[in-house]
Amino acid sequence: MKFQRQSLVLVVPFIILIIWLTSAADTDRPCLRKYLDNGSADTLVCVCTSDYCDSVTRAVPSSGEYVLYMSSEAGSRFEKSFGKLQSLTKDGIYNINLDLDPGKTYQTIEGFGGAVSDAAAITWDSLKNPVLKNHLIQSYCGETGIQYNMLRVPIGGSDFSTRAYAYNELPENDAALTNFTLAYEDYQYKIPMIRACMQAAGAPVHVLGATWSPPIWMKTNNDYYGYSLLKKEYLQTYADYHYKFLEHYAQAGVPVWGVSIVNEPLHGSVNYLPLSFNNLGWTLDFMNEYIVKHLGPTLRNEASKFKHVKIISGDDLRFTITLYWNMLVLLFPGALEYLDGVAVHYYMNKYVPATILSQAMEGYPGKFVIATEICAGGVPDDALLTPWGKAELYVNDIIENLSNNVIGYTDWNMCLNMEGGPNWRGGRVDAPIKINAEAGEFYKQPMFYAIGHFSKFIPRGSRRIRATVQAETAVQNLAFLTPDNTIVVVLFNKGPAEKVRIILGKKEAVLSIEAKSIATIEMLNE
Ligand SMILES: *[C@@H]1O[C@H](CO)[C@@H](O)[C@H](O)[C@H]1NC(C)=O
Ligand SMILES: *[C@@H]1O[C@H](CO)[C@@H](O)[C@H](O)[C@H]1NC(C)=O
Ligand SMILES: *[C@@H]1O[C@H](CO)[C@@H](O)[C@H](O)[C@H]1NC(C)=O
Repeated sequence: MKFQRQSLVLVVPFIILIIWLTSAADTDRPCLRKYLDNGSADTLVCVCTSDYCDSVTRAVPSSGEYVLYMSSEAGSRFEKSFGKLQSLTKDGIYNINLDLDPGKTYQTIEGFGGAVSDAAAITWDSLKNPVLKNHLIQSYCGETGIQYNMLRVPIGGSDFSTRAYAYNELPENDAALTNFTLAYEDYQYKIPMIRACMQAAGAPVHVLGATWSPPIWMKTNNDYYGYSLLKKEYLQTYADYHYKFLEHYAQAGVPVWGVSIVNEPLHGSVNYLPLSFNNLGWTLDFMNEYIVKHLGPTLRNEASKFKHVKIISGDDLRFTITLYWNMLVLLFPGALEYLDGVAVHYYMNKYVPATILSQAMEGYPGKFVIATEICAGGVPDDALLTPWGKAELYVNDIIENLSNNVIGYTDWNMCLNMEGGPNWRGGRVDAPIKINAEAGEFYKQPMFYAIGHFSKFIPRGSRRIRATVQAETAVQNLAFLTPDNTIVVVLFNKGPAEKVRIILGKKEAVLSIEAKSIATIEMLNE
């Protein structure tokens, strides 16, 4: 007896330790709530410190079961619950019947992510404490975070930099780019942040590069912004500039998945913004010449190390898809030999229907549309929204875009300082994560959870499937079949609490969703 009791004394704590260790690994950590502005419920954020950061794991649904994750204006953040599927009832008294049809599939998803601008990487680095920096990376890219698998990176500086710059600025008129190196910002901030995300991510991270402005000696106005074009003699140099960027990033351990012609070509072509910043204008003629005679052959020739890098046009406001895709390939069909797709941004979307996206691509099988920038506060009306209003803006945009065959979605700055910078032109916007370096904290805003309801649960290779709602409703939806043969449904409720019936074959799941909420539901495709 005595002997047994003694061994129990030793064994029991050991067993408890083992149970604690194994359960700690997949225990969700709830949001540590904080109100940024004197207790106003509107300003609820989840705070991460070096000691704590909220996290959520994606549970594998078992047969006959669904897993529900919910975030709401009232304060839920990825609240996880489980429910049972039941046999289909003849007629439920539900406002919302959502009929899923995994047999009818649409586009295949490439990924979700955000931008490692200089501003994002500099503010991330300003956290200093390695544990806290890792919390941010895990929050975005890790298995207990929102699992980003795409990142966008400016090639050189953008407005969200602390200075105006490009690569190989000296010597001037150096057509052979004899002095091409990356910048301090790449080595010190952006590449470490990208690599940290790559290490945390469970899937390959696809990196998209875009130039805002090349060295000013390549441009007709010899300046970073204002109306400009490339000087004709530097079209090939501009292509080589991209090749060298791909080479230097690859050497630094960051393979790049795709490059666009330039960020927002319309901006440099008509210089319409009150606060102009790094840009480069293009005529369609010039763009075609660059693609067909310079960038295309430079990347796709036999000796190129970057034959598989995607070449993307647009990278501008949604309505410009008619210009930088339809007009371009109508006037210059030869460009289709090199172009893989077109990229669109969020700003001013309300002036053009999202159906423009799917219509624009009709007749171009194998070519894609990808969304490469959304940002709350990038246009004046958005800045006035409440934090939940900004989350709704994101969800609305993602649903509209994915409903219209967009294959991926990247947010703008992944994080910014408390003022919404830095930005060398003085521009200020919002971001899903705000960094308070002095306090040694960062804050996850509702926008973070909004994009996470998609990015975490819709892995690369998922296919959108048909989902039909059998009544008028304020609840928007999207449904996907994932490579793991699960079904993921995202519901977006702008109205009061609702009961929703999701119908899959002969089974149904009946669930309640909160007022003003985003819900993701996952179940086996059985
Ligand atoms: C603090 O709360 C009051 C009352 O709700 C409000 O009028 C005021 O604008 C708030 N201040 C800040 C900085 O949000
Ligand atoms: C090469 O570029 C660096 C900046 O990266 C500059 O300091 C240097 O003067 C340049 N060299 C020449 C020969 O222009
Ligand atoms: C996505 O949809 C929104 C509509 O809310 C639109 O304004 C925006 O331009 C679209 N973005 C992309 C990249 O398609």
